[in-house]
Amino acid sequence: MGLLSSVFIVPNLLFLFFTTSYGVDSITQTQSLSDGKTLVSKGGSFELGFFRPGSSTNRYLGIWYKNILDKTVVWVANRGSPINDSSGFLMINGTGSLLLLGQNKTVVWSTSPPTQSQNLLLQLLDSGNLVLRDERTDNPEDYVWQSFDYPSDTLLPGMKHGWDLRRGLNRRLTSWKNWEDPSPGDTIFEIELYNYPDGYIWKGSKIFYRTGPWNGIGTSGSPALKRNSIYQFTFVTNEDEVYYMYTLKNQSVITRLVINQSDNPFQRYTWVETEKIWNLYSTLPKDLCDSYARCGAYGNCIISDSPICQCLKGFRPKSEEKWDLTDWTQGCVPKKPLSCQDKLKHGFLKFTGLKLPDTKNTWVDRNIRQFETGGQDLYIRMDASELESVDGRKKKIAAIVVASVAVVSGLLLGGCYIFRSRKNAKEAAEKSEKLGQGRDGQEEDMELPILNLSTITRATDGFSFDNKLGEGGFGPVYKGVLEDGQEIAVKRLSKISGQGANEFKNEVILIAKLQHRNLVRLLGCCVEGEEKLLVYEYMPNRSLDSFIFDKTRYKILDWSKRFQIICGIARGLLYLHEDSRLRIIHRDLKASNILLDKELNPKISDFGMARIFGGDQTEGNTNRVVGTYGYMAPEYASDGYFSTKSDVFSFGILLLEIISGKKSRGVFHQDQSLNLIGYAWKLWKENSPLGLMDACLEDSHCSSEVLRCIHISLLCVEQRPEDRPSMSSVVLMLGSENALLQPKQPGFFTGKHSHAQARSSSSKNESSSNNEVAVRIVDM
Ligand SMILES: *[C@@H]1O[C@H](CO)[C@@H](O)[C@H](O)[C@H]1NC(C)=O
Ligand SMILES: *[C@@H]1O[C@H](CO)[C@@H](O)[C@H](O)[C@H]1NC(C)=O
Ligand SMILES: *[C@@H]1O[C@H](CO)[C@@H](O)[C@H](O)[C@H]1NC(C)=O
Ligand SMILES: *[C@@H]1O[C@H](CO)[C@@H](O)[C@H](O)[C@H]1NC(C)=O
Ligand SMILES: *[C@@H]1O[C@H](CO)[C@@H](O)[C@H](O)[C@H]1NC(C)=O
Repeated sequence: MGLLSSVFIVPNLLFLFFTTSYGVDSITQTQSLSDGKTLVSKGGSFELGFFRPGSSTNRYLGIWYKNILDKTVVWVANRGSPINDSSGFLMINGTGSLLLLGQNKTVVWSTSPPTQSQNLLLQLLDSGNLVLRDERTDNPEDYVWQSFDYPSDTLLPGMKHGWDLRRGLNRRLTSWKNWEDPSPGDTIFEIELYNYPDGYIWKGSKIFYRTGPWNGIGTSGSPALKRNSIYQFTFVTNEDEVYYMYTLKNQSVITRLVINQSDNPFQRYTWVETEKIWNLYSTLPKDLCDSYARCGAYGNCIISDSPICQCLKGFRPKSEEKWDLTDWTQGCVPKKPLSCQDKLKHGFLKFTGLKLPDTKNTWVDRNIRQFETGGQDLYIRMDASELESVDGRKKKIAAIVVASVAVVSGLLLGGCYIFRSRKNAKEAAEKSEKLGQGRDGQEEDMELPILNLSTITRATDGFSFDNKLGEGGFGPVYKGVLEDGQEIAVKRLSKISGQGANEFKNEVILIAKLQHRNLVRLLGCCVEGEEKLLVYEYMPNRSLDSFIFDKTRYKILDWSKRFQIICGIARGLLYLHEDSRLRIIHRDLKASNILLDKELNPKISDFGMARIFGGDQTEGNTNRVVGTYGYMAPEYASDGYFSTKSDVFSFGILLLEIISGKKSRGVFHQDQSLNLIGYAWKLWKENSPLGLMDACLEDSHCSSEVLRCIHISLLCVEQRPEDRPSMSSVVLMLGSENALLQPKQPGFFTGKHSHAQARSSSSKNESSSNNEVAVRIVDM
């Protein structure tokens, strides 16, 4: 018996022993880490806990070297949201997110919910990586979350710097603001995804330094690092990943790479244990020649020369005058421009010991430096006579040499560009075929670029939450930046959205054909698998509703600005109705669908519900009413009749909203029965229409213009579609001072019972009695 019980007891004790010792480097889902407690990695290299940088009183959760007394922090969780007392604690919540809670248990930092939510363990590894993983497996491939994916300002050995394209994850280093403020500074080191990926250090929006493309051994900009006894460099670029990494030849060396906010932002340090100091091993930029594009295109920077900038052989300064005044920014141009006709008169000239130029678009960006030792060879295409004059002997010039050298040097000087565009054209053709499928045999003229999903994923940081601009009718809209710096807005149609494929195609095909200053421009689209994405020009000022209905921003739009916006919307709508190649009824005109560009010019957006008509049709009927209550014309809301005049009705409402700064569906009168139209009509009847005006307009308005706009809006919202003006009349009325018709009673002027009222006075007979063709189409 005694033997038997001890058999049971021993494993239990063992279990207890292991679980308690576990606590040192990890916590489970039922535990938490409070301020004052720390985790220490198994081998004792790193420690995770709360700290206070410099003399700041703010507290942060971070990771530092356990054995280095002068606390060197390598990672910070809540960089931008400090906790100002010792209330902080870290936990794993029920759905597997890491939460950092501050005062009163408010969440100051969290990770997005992972795919796995059970049996999770948070562990600090000896590499300095904080990982969230399944307790039952420690395969790095299966980590649920890891701090190495979200670097702060430090790259440790074994950390990847660059992209996981599958997840749209860009691991980049961002400097601290200063030594006692870890919030993100303006200096960023990241891998740019050109055909030959290159590492860029940005200072704000300016390129400060470029590492040069990877050449198989190191980066082209740091030839000296090839020979070293400490580091081994890796660069991986494939469909899934593009990253740079360094590992150690000697594992006992303690080293880190930091990006800081100084003029030498890239710093590699090694720890000297005997002296207990961090030794600066290398720093970039090294010298003047390392400044980005210092000598301009085809200018070569030679640090030992004076002046440091020289044109490459065969080139001359673009502007001798400026060059002499040491303004090198314009760079150099070939002494003899290459003639395109006679290719056999060109050849390649070898330049040695260079940092390779920018490979953005793999179209040479031509800023170069020369190293005293190391550096790479570069072949530059020249007119044949230059080859002779430079080299003193005739070079053999053959097309084959031209081609092979171009490949060897990795620089595409012309030919490949053509190849690329052909390839793209072919891809685009294939995709647009796909897009066109299922449309009723109509021929599509897709003049629209098709973008790759991976391009868009990168541009939007993997559709990250931070990039989300808002939620449109059919899915979220994200901000993105393309590789060439162009800002875009990406509409990601949700898979479950009612819009689905038909509306998507509708929108793409429609907008691709439309070009007007007051319509938002579609730049491209993407259909891959389940994903349907529309890429628009980015409108930094968002939509009109974010101004006119906002308690603080409404002041930005004074009357003259509002009048410009009204005229712009009218012109855009006129184009849709009458001037474009097609006749288009928007069907969902409203303040949130009017976007504003940098100069606050209005652009009509969101054509997901628009209907296209052949030449002279102007009306339709649908058994699926789509649109937004508060903007819908009575005949459309109640009977499904839509026409250009139902858009005119919505325009009238929009006008009232712009003038009043109030939403059409609000309630405006004590008796609770009037909506915005009703209220405007009441004031009109009482001869005090200006009472409608937004309070903020009082000091800026031109009352005759406001009055005219109220008048026009009341004409637009008249009950009977045929009484309403067309958009061309509206545009005319806005631009002239001629007398206007008296408005009749508007449609929908009470907040309630509006359907009944609309029906009683608008029958189908009336709406099809004019001489325009009425059609009956069933929505797809
Ligand atoms: C800490 O921050 C909170 C919220 O930001 C603030 O209300 C509080 O006064 C601060 N406490 C101290 C001690 O600074
Ligand atoms: C865990 O936290 C995440 C991030 O804040 C949140 O989205 C999620 O709803 C939380 N889960 C639970 C069960 O509270
Ligand atoms: C935290 O809670 C206390 C007591 O409930 C309250 O007085 C204080 O204002 C709260 N602080 C914050 C930052 O919400
Ligand atoms: C950046 O590095 C320099 C040189 O090591 C140092 O003097 C400076 O304090 C650092 N700046 C910050 C903000 O850490
Ligand atoms: C590795 O580095 C340590 C400390 O810098 C040094 O003592 C040791 O000799 C090195 N080992 C090798 C094999 O170079």
